[in-house]
Amino acid sequence: MAIPESMRCQAHLLPSVLSADFSRLGEEVGQVMDGGARIIHIDVMDGHFVPNITVGPLVVDALGPLVHGRSGYFSVHLMIERPQDYVEASVKAGADAVSVHAEASSHLQGLLERISALGASPGVALNPGSDLSRVLEVADLVDFVLVMTVNPGFGGQKMIVPALERVAQLRTALPAEVAIEVDGGVNRKNIRQVVESGGNWVVTGSALFGADDLAAETRALQRLMVGEAIL
Ligand code: DX5
Ligand code: ZN
Repeated sequence: MAIPESMRCQAHLLPSVLSADFSRLGEEVGQVMDGGARIIHIDVMDGHFVPNITVGPLVVDALGPLVHGRSGYFSVHLMIERPQDYVEASVKAGADAVSVHAEASSHLQGLLERISALGASPGVALNPGSDLSRVLEVADLVDFVLVMTVNPGFGGQKMIVPALERVAQLRTALPAEVAIEVDGGVNRKNIRQVVESGGNWVVTGSALFGADDLAAETRALQRLMVGEAIL
């Protein structure tokens, strides 16, 4: 089911399960949801578009009852070649939002329209070195834009801070109902800067799942995100 417009306009913390303990995946997703997370970020990698291999529709399907059963959503980030071959399987498995990389999609407009037609929120993702015009060309077809602030492929990298300038440019150029998902290197120290730049769906992987108490860390990052102090 597409992600409602109200949630596309709000600030949300999106836990990226890439850094979760996969032997206890359901439990850890439950804990970040206990902390208030409502959109779970799933990184799909194929070993071609990026050097790493991760998970796919099977894992979205397995987590579906837990996440959807608690009024949650999945934002599925396809870092794969030929994303057109996998959008249908992703949505059928339970993806509510699907982002495809502009660099991997030769018929980007048609692909975004297909994601919409399948009933999910379409998004376009962009690597740090890619031209922002790729996003602006399809702005009227997307529910969200994913701006990479690291080179895609691995969790735990340091944020490329100048990429936040791109977030600010997109926030000015895009309508308010298009969410800006910022992905890569977000931590306690820079999360407020991400939101001040105009990002409102903020992905955190290693900075969140490295904590001892996942629910407490989710709450702490959410508070920092909206400019509140944490005790
Ligand atoms: C990287 C992925 C990210 C990653 C973020 O290619 O797209 O979603 O999990 O992890 P951190 O927050 O550790 O940079
Ligand atoms: Zn991601």
